[in-house]
Amino acid sequence: MKIKIQNFLPLLIFLSLIIPLHSITPPILHQSHFKKHTFDENNTTSSPQEYFEVTKPLPFNGLGAKCTLPILSHNFSNTYGLPPISVSYSPPFNCTWTHVTLEIKVSCQGEQYDRITAVWLNGAELIRTSTAEPTGDGVFWNIQKDVSRYSSLLAQDNLTLSIMLENFVNDVFTGVYQVNVTFLYYDANAIIVSPSLVLPSENSRLSSRKLKSVDNSIELKVDYEKGSFDLHEKPADLIIPISEVGYEGGFWFRIQNESDVHSMGVIIPRNTYRAVIEVYVSFHGNDEFWYSNPPDSYLKMANDDEVQHKNSSDSYANMKKVSLERGHSAYREVLVMIDGNVVGSVVPFPVIFTGGINPLFWEPVVSIGAFNLPSYDIELTPYLGLLLDGKVHSFSFQVADGISFWLVDANLHLWLDAGSKEVQARIVKSSPEFSLERELKFEGLDGKFEIEAERETKISGWVNSTAGNFTASFSQKLKFKNKIEFHNNGTQKLVEQKVKDKTEVKIESSGKMIYSTIIKRTYPLKVTTETFPGENGTYLMSTSLENSIEENKTVKTIRKVKSTLKNSQKSSGWMSVKDHEVLSGGANTRQNYSYKNGLECYSRVVAAENGILLNDTATLLCATSL
Ligand SMILES: *[C@@H]1O[C@H](CO)[C@@H](O)[C@H](O)[C@H]1NC(C)=O
Ligand SMILES: *[C@@H]1O[C@H](CO)[C@@H](O)[C@H](O)[C@H]1NC(C)=O
Ligand SMILES: *[C@@H]1O[C@H](CO)[C@@H](O)[C@H](O)[C@H]1NC(C)=O
Ligand SMILES: *[C@@H]1O[C@H](CO)[C@@H](O)[C@H](O)[C@H]1NC(C)=O
Ligand SMILES: *[C@@H]1O[C@H](CO)[C@@H](O)[C@H](O)[C@H]1NC(C)=O
Ligand SMILES: *[C@@H]1O[C@H](CO)[C@@H](O)[C@H](O)[C@H]1NC(C)=O
Ligand SMILES: *[C@@H]1O[C@H](CO)[C@@H](O)[C@H](O)[C@H]1NC(C)=O
Ligand SMILES: *[C@@H]1O[C@H](CO)[C@@H](O)[C@H](O)[C@H]1NC(C)=O
Ligand SMILES: *[C@@H]1O[C@H](CO)[C@@H](O)[C@H](O)[C@H]1NC(C)=O
Ligand SMILES: *[C@@H]1O[C@H](CO)[C@@H](O)[C@H](O)[C@H]1NC(C)=O
Ligand SMILES: *[C@@H]1O[C@H](CO)[C@@H](O)[C@H](O)[C@H]1NC(C)=O
Ligand SMILES: *[C@@H]1O[C@H](CO)[C@@H](O)[C@H](O)[C@H]1NC(C)=O
Repeated sequence: MKIKIQNFLPLLIFLSLIIPLHSITPPILHQSHFKKHTFDENNTTSSPQEYFEVTKPLPFNGLGAKCTLPILSHNFSNTYGLPPISVSYSPPFNCTWTHVTLEIKVSCQGEQYDRITAVWLNGAELIRTSTAEPTGDGVFWNIQKDVSRYSSLLAQDNLTLSIMLENFVNDVFTGVYQVNVTFLYYDANAIIVSPSLVLPSENSRLSSRKLKSVDNSIELKVDYEKGSFDLHEKPADLIIPISEVGYEGGFWFRIQNESDVHSMGVIIPRNTYRAVIEVYVSFHGNDEFWYSNPPDSYLKMANDDEVQHKNSSDSYANMKKVSLERGHSAYREVLVMIDGNVVGSVVPFPVIFTGGINPLFWEPVVSIGAFNLPSYDIELTPYLGLLLDGKVHSFSFQVADGISFWLVDANLHLWLDAGSKEVQARIVKSSPEFSLERELKFEGLDGKFEIEAERETKISGWVNSTAGNFTASFSQKLKFKNKIEFHNNGTQKLVEQKVKDKTEVKIESSGKMIYSTIIKRTYPLKVTTETFPGENGTYLMSTSLENSIEENKTVKTIRKVKSTLKNSQKSSGWMSVKDHEVLSGGANTRQNYSYKNGLECYSRVVAAENGILLNDTATLLCATSL
């Protein structure tokens, strides 16, 4: 708190010197999307700068890749409204591998908005990413994602790999995104015992053999200096994309409003013994900053007020006009349904794209998730009792309270019983609960809006396969709290949100628990914004942001493995804006990242100011503050 006040003081003094207070017209504040202005394209003072998202290095980064497959190189210039770029995929010939990394290298120079991007393999999404906004000197970045969980697809020949990046280039928007996509294949068996964590068998001899192999791999992990392999679960045997089929606008479903439901019919193989749906989500347009959207009633009142005070067509007024569409309050939930019934939901982590809030925050470190948006897993094994009838079941997505637009799709990960053609399953019990409370108060342009929502889903069912008869339970408890306040005639806005999500998967056999995963996540967000009119139709904005995620994961098999991730960003700064273009400004961002499990630690501290990296310190030591 103290630091923030110190950062703010010089700015406020500066602003009060140059702004005659009487000229302040009441604005309707909004988080918005901006483009950085490149001051002189022909005066490139330095070489291109590397941008990055802070994450922990992939465990097999230190190993040489056994095989490398450069699959696509493309310059995305005028690709707006065009279908994705597609090439044919086959894994490298005569290469044994256990793990695969997807690498995306991008460079761009000039002026350009940030863009959303995804890569699909036969319609199954492998990564959702977004671009950094370039500068006159140019920027580049390198994304690496572990895509081993898609191994069953990656092992197949003659698939179609597609990438979508809608860009627009003219005299003003000069940035062309140059993209290279490469797959890197690693063979973990060459180094450690394969850490397969299949559904444990009822057979005790088998179990004890598994215990041994797990133990061996852990011993080898400790020995292995460069890091270690996560105890990844065995990748699914079959991945069915739940995505838009044959649509030229990409494989994602475009969800335009709260009643827009997108569905796909799927037949599940009758020998499926485990099922997980992985959901990819991003939000755009009027819902890009959904967590800061006020109620429609407030916007309507503000609009009426604005009509009275309408003066000229300056950019300050323009901003207000645009922002009127960004309403519908601040609660959103992506609902995942089977045959019309909600089986789970996602309140997405608020990923802020590089043009968001203040684009100067995101130089050279981008916001959490901007280069690798999180996907969300929902365990569907207990529903197999419904799904194994050989009939078509409808999987659908909807965004509660959503406005235009959301890009949503999913991958259905299925594990198949090799020893049987048909597995029996039955739902034992299910009990969904949902509550939502809203409180609105406003007077003039000042106001306070609060929303609280809670959802609880519980389901269990048994699955009898050749491995035995197991009872699987899934529970999800989601708590959502959001508060938006407007002060000083609406010129000051405060957004505070907290999402808490707890999911638990349990596998029991004869009443004995043999496997469980508990994941607890919180992601609090805080944004404050203040707007002042500037000269010549410009306006000044000062903003501070705190965005973070904390995740505790406990996996219990024969042993217990606990991991903790804490990733937080704090930014503050100001900017002078005309329309959506940032003319000048200043910003600083500080990020703390720490990850710990029973065996390894990684922490990194990054500090950047006005585009310059002041500190970037990483350590693998298991120190104190976690
Ligand atoms: C940069 O130089 C090119 C070629 O000389 C010229 O066409 C362009 O207008 C210049 N851009 C700016 C912003 O001065
Ligand atoms: C180029 O930009 C730098 C830094 O903004 C400035 O100091 C320098 O005078 C500029 N050079 C030219 C030729 O405009
Ligand atoms: C992309 O553009 C750059 C610069 O114009 C050029 O060097 C490169 O060959 C292009 N790449 C592709 C794949 O067309
Ligand atoms: C496949 O790789 C193995 C080991 O690297 C090699 O001995 C074998 O000759 C290769 N086979 C073919 C068909 O290239
Ligand atoms: C993409 O690959 C080409 C050819 O290897 C290379 O010239 C180019 O610099 C690469 N671009 C990026 C952004 O890595
Ligand atoms: C893949 O496609 C190529 C060219 O169409 C064909 O020659 C090859 O047999 C196909 N491979 C498989 C496994 O279908
Ligand atoms: C359970 O599954 C096994 C293996 O598929 C099968 O042999 C057995 O008959 C099943 N049990 C019942 C009660 O159906
Ligand atoms: C599997 O186990 C459950 C619970 O123990 C039991 O109710 C069910 O009948 C069993 N199913 C089979 C096929 O044996
Ligand atoms: C708020 O705006 C109204 C007109 O819209 C004006 O009369 C009032 O003085 C303003 N209040 C403050 C504190 O600026
Ligand atoms: C994670 O665990 C730590 C230490 O046990 C605890 O302080 C923290 O509140 C937990 N966070 C979440 C999101 O559950
Ligand atoms: C505002 O515009 C006028 C006329 O174009 C110009 O003289 C003045 O310098 C501008 N002021 C600022 C702060 O840009
Ligand atoms: C960088 O961060 C580390 C870890 O917090 C700290 O120990 C170090 O003093 C910082 N360095 C600078 C130059 O701020």
